[in-house]
Amino acid sequence: MLIISTFIAVGLIGLSIFWTRFKIEKESKKIELKIKLPQPSYRSETSIEEALKRRRSIREYEDKPLTIKHVSQLFWAAQGVTKPDPWLRAGGFKTAPSAGATYPLEVYMVVKKGGVEGLEPGIYHYLPKTHEIELIKRGDYSKELRKAALDQEYVEAAPVNMVITAIYERTTGRYGDRGIRYVHMEVGHVGENIYLQCVSLGLGCVVIGAFHDDQVKEILGVDEAPLYIIPIGFRKS
Ligand SMILES: Cc1cc2nc3c(=O)[nH]c(=O)nc-3n(C[C@H](O)[C@H](O)[C@H](O)COP(=O)(O)O)c2cc1C
Repeated sequence: MLIISTFIAVGLIGLSIFWTRFKIEKESKKIELKIKLPQPSYRSETSIEEALKRRRSIREYEDKPLTIKHVSQLFWAAQGVTKPDPWLRAGGFKTAPSAGATYPLEVYMVVKKGGVEGLEPGIYHYLPKTHEIELIKRGDYSKELRKAALDQEYVEAAPVNMVITAIYERTTGRYGDRGIRYVHMEVGHVGENIYLQCVSLGLGCVVIGAFHDDQVKEILGVDEAPLYIIPIGFRKS
């Protein structure tokens, strides 16, 4: 009797874990198009020390488009998989640390009209496992994003804006309420990765925390918590 009850209990626990994960991961995005990104580069003429020394928040950009190579490098710096592991939901360990390797963050890029050579304007979502992006919304949302970001004009001026969101349950599911602070720490790591990658690419960026969450969520069309908007463009010298 005890053995049967134990089996039932273990089965119910397993089922509830599966259901929770399914609920969290359920895809709500409509995918318009998937694009394989070029292989990121692992070499640079900028040393890590030089990147740290030169890192600054940049709010003025050249009127010049980025290339798909920049897009690839920026997404990789933010959340690229650097050590594949089939046992992890995220597909492996990434460029930024994560509490318990729970990887609660999602990364998007809002591309302005003419913002990236050969890429139509729209909102793209990064798929770290395969280093691909998926177009989830067509159109230029830079004006709407600027409004959502309390009218900070560099949001509209930048050719692209990365947006980092969180799915808290991935981390709080393991750590309870303390997981909230872990998620906020993690987005800081990702922000710094993007800053340093920008220096190495001759780009400039600024992390933005002042915005209306509900408006950013509506622009992206996802039910995730936006944590950072990061306008990026060629640094004005
Ligand atoms: C959590 C956080 C939120 C920020 N939010 C904004 C923002 O909304 N708008 C902005 O222009 N800069 C924002 N910044 C950038 C800071 O203003 C900037 O880092 C600071 O002035 C120091 O300059 P530095 O980054 O060039 O060293 C933010 C920085 C952090 C860490």
